[in-house]
Amino acid sequence: MAEAELYPVPDEWRQRARIDAEGYDKLYGRSLADPGAFWLDQAKRLDWIKRPEIAGDWSFDEADFHISWFADGKLNVAANCIDRHAKAHGDRVAIIWEPDDPAEEPRRFTYRQLLAEVCRFANVLKANGVAKGDRVTIYLPMIPEAAVAVLACARIGAIHSVVFGGFSPDALAGRIQDCDSKLVITADEGRRGGKRIALKACVDEAADRAPSLERVIVVRATGAEVAMRDGRDIWYHDAAAEASGDCPPEPMNAEDPLFILYTSGSTGKPKGVLHSSGGYLLWAACTHEWCFDYRVGEVFWCAADIGWVTGHSYILYGPLANGATTLMYEGLPNWPDASRIWQVVDRHQVSTLFTAPTVLRALMKDGDAPVHATDRSSLRLLGSVGEPINPEAWRWYHRVAGEGRCPIIDTWWQTETGGAMIAPMPGATDLKPGSATRPMPGVDPQLLDAEGQVLHGAAEGNLAIARSWPGQMRTVWGDHDRFFQTYFTTYPGKYFTGDGARRDDDGYWWITGRVDDVINVSGHRMGTAEVESALVAHPKVAEAAVVGMPHDVKGQGIYAYVTLNGGEEASDALHDELVQWVRREIGPIAKPDALQFAPGLPKTRSGKIMRRILRKIAEGDTGALGDTSTLAEPAVVDDLVANRVTLPT
Ligand code: PRX
Repeated sequence: MAEAELYPVPDEWRQRARIDAEGYDKLYGRSLADPGAFWLDQAKRLDWIKRPEIAGDWSFDEADFHISWFADGKLNVAANCIDRHAKAHGDRVAIIWEPDDPAEEPRRFTYRQLLAEVCRFANVLKANGVAKGDRVTIYLPMIPEAAVAVLACARIGAIHSVVFGGFSPDALAGRIQDCDSKLVITADEGRRGGKRIALKACVDEAADRAPSLERVIVVRATGAEVAMRDGRDIWYHDAAAEASGDCPPEPMNAEDPLFILYTSGSTGKPKGVLHSSGGYLLWAACTHEWCFDYRVGEVFWCAADIGWVTGHSYILYGPLANGATTLMYEGLPNWPDASRIWQVVDRHQVSTLFTAPTVLRALMKDGDAPVHATDRSSLRLLGSVGEPINPEAWRWYHRVAGEGRCPIIDTWWQTETGGAMIAPMPGATDLKPGSATRPMPGVDPQLLDAEGQVLHGAAEGNLAIARSWPGQMRTVWGDHDRFFQTYFTTYPGKYFTGDGARRDDDGYWWITGRVDDVINVSGHRMGTAEVESALVAHPKVAEAAVVGMPHDVKGQGIYAYVTLNGGEEASDALHDELVQWVRREIGPIAKPDALQFAPGLPKTRSGKIMRRILRKIAEGDTGALGDTSTLAEPAVVDDLVANRVTLPT
């Protein structure tokens, strides 16, 4: 059994780590016993304009619902991530940028250079009317300007909303409108795996549906010719040429918003998850140190995109707050070939690599030779994030990529949590493949059954967090009630994660996956409702139901059942058209892996779609459909089973 398999802390880590097993117990114990003193102490990591005297002040109860951390503190996040390091050691490299094409030269920015770039960008934003509290949408590829733009917003107190470059114009327009953003920062084009993505053209299309948009700042990335609209669009390099490289950081209250990041839920449109300045930054900095035990001089590589929370917290905010050298990679892990990710490790002597299980599973398919073709001796730690890591992928990562030398840091967390919540510490935690191990200091996880009873000891149930932590999201942008309803009503007085989990006899946590209608495709969240509403927007579609299905690389794939309008004929051509339609409506990540035409969907007599049955059929578990007698038309199930779509292997 996987639980019996234990990987003790390696001697090297036992000796060098800041925190050992005893240290973890003490730290964790104190964090829960005296949270006020603990967090005010941790807050000393940051440079405050006014040091806080209050730590957490919160209640998850409806009558008195509020969450705040360090409410009397003042700071500037960008100054914490840049200025203090630029002053103390300005020649240290802050960001290494590795281009998509390995034949091109990487770029390096010292903390001093980063400061100048960020100030310049901040002045361009100000010159274009952006003030404290305004929302700025960032739709950029993984180029250095993306980091600079994010930090420039933080410097002037504007709230950034980064939208992943893979989202469609429609999805972008929705995210611009929802937060009433007047300015978008984009690039002529993005590049990934040798392909070009026409970002500026997407913004033009989105703009037609986003009337709040007044200004588009365009970064020249590939030099492609793009249309510029007079009075709305400006080139960043033109504006920057006139901007000063000096911009004082805006003093911000710890509770002032830092950013919005849209994420999918089980119902409705994506939610604008709002994070604070002080609590979020402290959480990113603490967890970056606790999980990765970062030491000055090392190169830290989080191979995510800054369009996701992982990129926010572990490419930018956490590492930079800790004065680290962080690597930003424009391309794909397996392009031009399956060795690329390891070649990047060698080229920049990366000590920590932090990536997602889906990447590992894709690489495993190419065998060990592309890994063995590289050196990787600089690696000391390997991290995993975004979805449950299957033990086979864990062992491969450990044995092949890390040559048995590097602890695997499997971090469980969410966009909502700001940073890692359950994860090992390399010098403290013996590892079990597939387990995210133990909670971070300050995190109080609980297992609950469907009735809300707290389960003790070894048990399996739903995962809730019983108290607030500094990195917790503060609200859903524009809809505080939705925030409360989504997270605090399932288990009153607790934050409900939407995940299921198991705790073993040793107190180790194993995340079993979402228990709601959210699917995790390649470590990215997709709401089934979103894909369904894209499908029913097609003129030939009457009804759609979407569920997750097992996928050997993506973890979960998207399985769509589609009922056509009367008179419409199912065909291969329409199948492909619908798949492409979803791709265009939301983006490539939402493209169904399987699409089945269904004459009818299984519904209860009250008209509720029985997703349990649809999930079973998608999984191929058709022998165990359970009780179908409550269905309005039990015969539809036979048709669905008979015409089930299987994925090519
Ligand atoms: O189901 C959990 C899964 O990803 C969800 C959060 O997705 P998102 O907000 O996009 O954030 C991804 C990056 C943190 C969670 O509810 N998840 C994330 N990390 C893990 C995980 N499941 C198991 N193990 C993990 N390490």
